[in-house]
Amino acid sequence: MQAPTPLLQLTGIEKRFGGVVALRGVDFRLHAGEIHGLAGENGAGKSTLMKIIAGVHTDYSGRMELEGRPVRFRSARDALAAGIGMVHQELSIVPELTVAENVLLGAQPTNKLGFVDWRRMMTEAGEHLQSLGISVDVRAPIGALPLGLQQMIEIARVIFSGARIIILDEPTSALSPPEIERLFELLRQLRAQGRSMIFISHFLDDILRICDAVTVFRNGQKVASSAAAIDKMWIIDHMIGAGHQELEESYLGEFQLKSRTEAPVVLEAEDLCLRGAFEDVGLRVHAGEVLGLYGFMGSGQLELTRSLFGKLPPERGRVRIMGKEVRITSTAVAKRAGLAFLPESRRSMLFALEPVYRNISISILERLSRLWVKPATERALAHEQVSALRIRPPNVDLPVGTLSGGNQQKVALARWLTHLPHVLLLNEPTRGMDVGAKEDVVRIVRDLSARGVGVLVASTEPETVLALADRILVMKKGRIVHEFAGEAVSKDRLLAAA
Ligand SMILES: Nc1ncnc2c1ncn2[C@@H]1O[C@H](COP(=O)(O)OP(=O)(O)O)[C@@H](O)[C@H]1O
Ligand SMILES: [Mg+2]
Repeated sequence: MQAPTPLLQLTGIEKRFGGVVALRGVDFRLHAGEIHGLAGENGAGKSTLMKIIAGVHTDYSGRMELEGRPVRFRSARDALAAGIGMVHQELSIVPELTVAENVLLGAQPTNKLGFVDWRRMMTEAGEHLQSLGISVDVRAPIGALPLGLQQMIEIARVIFSGARIIILDEPTSALSPPEIERLFELLRQLRAQGRSMIFISHFLDDILRICDAVTVFRNGQKVASSAAAIDKMWIIDHMIGAGHQELEESYLGEFQLKSRTEAPVVLEAEDLCLRGAFEDVGLRVHAGEVLGLYGFMGSGQLELTRSLFGKLPPERGRVRIMGKEVRITSTAVAKRAGLAFLPESRRSMLFALEPVYRNISISILERLSRLWVKPATERALAHEQVSALRIRPPNVDLPVGTLSGGNQQKVALARWLTHLPHVLLLNEPTRGMDVGAKEDVVRIVRDLSARGVGVLVASTEPETVLALADRILVMKKGRIVHEFAGEAVSKDRLLAAA
């Protein structure tokens, strides 16, 4: 018997963004009534391929066939007309509009005169959401609802559009466990109706639970695809390509972690909670210790450090810094208590147009509560840092915005070297850096910890945490689920715990 024609078939897809090859020679098949999982590390090309299928990216080479017929979409609208809808990684709802308007966006019912029929819209949207088990006031502005609910409504919108191929790009990262259950129930119902879904997730357990087939991407290529029973290690092996030469040496090896130290605790958190971000978090950072917080996107670790710094203060729980209880209500409180924070968007921390030396001295100025230090003093201080940190080019008078990302990060870190905080919170400290800059950052962090600073490094990149941390906590869906201490850890073990 001949195999049935796939519902959707892509062959030899290539896609570039300027000089970056995002996809090379990718083949992909989706069958009717199938939930197809996509896995792969950040940047592997998953979203790009999905955006091609959904008509968002139109300049690619390769072939796409829908039920055996060649198609070439010119827009997302075009793809939707052919029955393909996508729920994007970044929500595309309009926060100011009501729930009903968002659900029916672009398809609002109109009356004879061509005006939007509000009553019908409210009724239709309400009935539709009800049928999906979502109870919500359809008149409420959607931006005011919890993120998980917004996500469900966005999914509902695509379903309501009648799409028979529904692409879900990391839909669960904003959802709570009961919401995920509801979503899965929904996906099963849709499958029973013969619709097909492509489900992208970093949560491999979720993929294994709901999907009928799995395809793995690495570095812009499809590396494996299976409709047979597979396990988590199969996915992870293909994701990171264990044993393949293209990986950097250090990723393959094991990292020996330290055991918990006896040094005094500089930061202690207990039962910390911020709804929609993290729950029941307890941790201790010791003086001179680098504690890694690893988890997939949306697991709560980046939110946790941000919250500890008072950006979005925790709603519940206790924080002690240097043994003293501190109610973190603002960043000012956090700073005064001796915390320092370097967020993942470093640009926001630096004054791009100001010269390097001003950027380095700014925290000293803040601490001295003085607005003016002799420029010569500032420069001299900055010069020391610039050469110690190998900031390139070694010119303290350049506007910091003209430096590369890695060198900007070093400038941002340099501030804390001149005046040590008790605790340094770092989000994605080496993201997007070349190997040399990464090594420099690792050295700086080590230097800080050697001088007694407690460091908390939150990242979604296993390599970053492995390269920096003495001890690692793994977060998953807002909770700490595992601790690695005093043992050898490899990237695949870290991934398997997340
Ligand atoms: N709009 C864009 N402009 C430039 N580069 C992009 C764009 N979108 C994606 N890329 C690049 O393409 C590659 C694949 O990205 P993406 O498809 O988003 O990966 P994934 O979804 O698997 O994390 C990455 O190197 C990313 O930086
Ligand atoms: Mg993506």
